[in-house]
Amino acid sequence: MTNPKAQIFLDTNRTIAPISSLLFGGFVEHMGRCVYEGIYDPKSPLADANGLRLDVLQALRDQAYTVIRYPGGNFLSGYNWLDGVGPKGERPSRRNLAWQSIETNQFGTNEFVDFCREINAAPMLGVNMGTGTIQSASDLVEYCNVDSGTYWSDLRASHGYRQPHNVRYWCVGNEMDGPWQIGHLDAVAYGNKALEAAKMMKWQDPTIKTVLCGSSGDKMPTYPDWDRIALEIAWEHVDYHSMHYYAGNRDNDTASFLANAVEFENFVNTLEGTLRYVKARRRSNHDVFLSWDEWQVWYKGDPLQGNWTEAPHLAEEIYNLEDALVVAQWLNVFLRKSHVLKIACVAQIVNVISWLHTRPDGLLKQPSFYVFQLVSNLARGEALDLLVKAPLVATRAYGDVPALDVSASFDAATRQGAIFLVNRSLKEAVTAEFIWQDGKTVAINQAWQLTGDDPKASNSWEAPNRLVTQPIPTPKVSDGRSTLTLPPLSFTVLQTSVQI
Ligand code: AHR
Repeated sequence: MTNPKAQIFLDTNRTIAPISSLLFGGFVEHMGRCVYEGIYDPKSPLADANGLRLDVLQALRDQAYTVIRYPGGNFLSGYNWLDGVGPKGERPSRRNLAWQSIETNQFGTNEFVDFCREINAAPMLGVNMGTGTIQSASDLVEYCNVDSGTYWSDLRASHGYRQPHNVRYWCVGNEMDGPWQIGHLDAVAYGNKALEAAKMMKWQDPTIKTVLCGSSGDKMPTYPDWDRIALEIAWEHVDYHSMHYYAGNRDNDTASFLANAVEFENFVNTLEGTLRYVKARRRSNHDVFLSWDEWQVWYKGDPLQGNWTEAPHLAEEIYNLEDALVVAQWLNVFLRKSHVLKIACVAQIVNVISWLHTRPDGLLKQPSFYVFQLVSNLARGEALDLLVKAPLVATRAYGDVPALDVSASFDAATRQGAIFLVNRSLKEAVTAEFIWQDGKTVAINQAWQLTGDDPKASNSWEAPNRLVTQPIPTPKVSDGRSTLTLPPLSFTVLQTSVQI
């Protein structure tokens, strides 16, 4: 029996948009063991002089993060940033109401900026729109970005940071549409507060870019009205509109779960339409782009409340092959929606809802860690507008969907490209023919694959390398055509070069 066949047509002139480098971002929240025992663990023999775990830093560098969002999350809406600056011995311990834990404040804004510099990522700070005021938001921008000679900039200098941090990206609150949020507001109240906060923040530093809170998910009863209303109020003072989206295989329906990108892409499409609508309604020349600043697979039911302890184990998900294949498809959506999606942050980068877990003696990397690492290192230049003809697979949730989920990039400066493919079929291999239509000489230089028979297979401390991306033989290209058979349940990456 022969495999079903697919055709993928590529043309390096047929592009969607430049791929924003900020798509390969992460999120750090004062939740569970993300900060403490994750990135910061001063008592660990694996930590540097600043208390940062060296093995974690290296893993994060390998993943090539470009931007890190901090300090929350739900935590943000009860956080007083002043608790986390100044001499560590004088910082207060507080109740973290969002996660029912104890927050020691030994890691705060300045330590976070130092951490970002260590991994070459831009810091993206959140200002508290729950218990916080527009004044405290403005003060934090002054503390971080004003050179010297004012109360807040001099306070920063007195804390050992004479040079300004120059933080460019600022989230104006977190998930303010959610009733679970400390200080939750309705869309009009939030839109007005965000507008006034963003105005003051930009008066402090006109170079900053602000992110408005969009819907916490496409299942929110207020979606998409929340987005339209908040945007209509704050449009001219914000540069990005956030979307949060977590998914999971709650019904143990793997075929549908593996087609989840269809649902997520619809969410992006709706918000893209909302952005266009509001821009037109406001007769504006200003553009606002999407920031998917919390995303991950999250459903396995690990505790979310810390019983008033420090660094409790919360939401430490174990990820398997099917989870990794869903992540790979979302990364494909980054490229397919590169004209509107400009920032994305995986939630979170270590321990909490994360593909990277720490133990006192080492690190465990889960399968999706490797998927992100390949894409974040290879997707450069512009996203290609592909034509994909693929057989269909049936799903209960989304009907028939193409067996292949594909994206591709091409960087005209280096003439390097990459193709990212998921075969979401549970049982059938698909033989894919690649057809480059622009008449250039193409070579496939390297290829990698993550695959397995069991969608529930995962890595463990005992078997840490069961599922990693493996190099595979590179298919030959002749006359601009190449063929590769993609196993079921697989993620494949082809690194290409194009000669003029
Ligand atoms: O990332 C965990 C939590 O998920 C965040 O605190 C919140 O913003 C979201 O609901």
